[in-house]
Amino acid sequence: MTLLEQFPEITKADQPLAPLTWMKTGGLAQFLVTPRNADELQKVVAYCHAEEIPVRILGGGSNLLVRDEGVSGVVVQLADPSFAQISIEGTKARAGAGVSLSHLITETIKAGLAGMETLVGIPGTVGGALRGNAGGRSGDIGQLVASVTVLTASGERVVRKEDELSFAYRFSSINDLAILEAEFKLYPDSPDEITRRTRKLWIMKKATQPLASQSAGCVFKNPRGMSAGSLIDQAGLKGTRIGGAEISDRHANFIVTHEGATSADVMRVIDLARSKVAEQFGVDLELEIQVW
Ligand code: EPU
Repeated sequence: MTLLEQFPEITKADQPLAPLTWMKTGGLAQFLVTPRNADELQKVVAYCHAEEIPVRILGGGSNLLVRDEGVSGVVVQLADPSFAQISIEGTKARAGAGVSLSHLITETIKAGLAGMETLVGIPGTVGGALRGNAGGRSGDIGQLVASVTVLTASGERVVRKEDELSFAYRFSSINDLAILEAEFKLYPDSPDEITRRTRKLWIMKKATQPLASQSAGCVFKNPRGMSAGSLIDQAGLKGTRIGGAEISDRHANFIVTHEGATSADVMRVIDLARSKVAEQFGVDLELEIQVW
């Protein structure tokens, strides 16, 4: 039986991924599967494992560039509300992989719990944020983790506790196929006080980053002790445009896309920034965004 026959209600063939990413570029998924709950996801993963069909999990699409050629195999979208549940007990918050960070921040503030607000302004979902240990100057998501429930490539559900996990700058040791949910340890504070801090962080971000444009956040990781944005800026590349892709004139580590942009345009801009920075400063920039 084929995938379409096995999971007809949740599988679509040749689906465009561009609308599901912040860059709004890129090709088709051979199969887009949208499971209705974790059990169904588990069945899909076990089937694909047995049939040797590659599986990729799509988060919020905010740190992702899909090549114009598209991707073969299965892309799983965790869009069902069952992956977006939040529950709060004492100082712990439990959130599904599909919860948006902004929603989790709002809900934990309402509950008088602090910690999450350091992630304000970061797009994407809990699952994606954990995978790349999203964060900024004031902290990252990894430091808040108590445990993470994952699904392995063979379809087994496992809980990984904080002492089995390691997080570093834009790195997490979670390399299982999918993240299902996570538990975060927060601390009590007054909602007014947390809101005040959140506003301050948000204003700082808005002043330096092109948050309203189509982009995938910072494109490159910061090399140790340096800022990728500042290096690209010093190479004189702000505002440089190839096709529909442009290095933001607000923050040089952001690539914004315009109407008609392709992922090939974005890749050309990436290559240009890399080669100019290598030539002028002898620094190799490493991609922060995922490329499919
Ligand atoms: N700078 C320039 N020109 C630019 C951009 C930056 O000169 O075009 C200078 C700034 O003036 C500043 C320094 O470079 O002196 C650092 O810039 P910024 O404070 O904007 O921080 P960043 O290191 O570029 C990091 C994260 C961001 C995060 C911010 C704030 C990375 C790659 N980037 O940016 O994360 O929002 O700190 O906490 O680690 C992301 O990962 O997608 C992301 C946007």
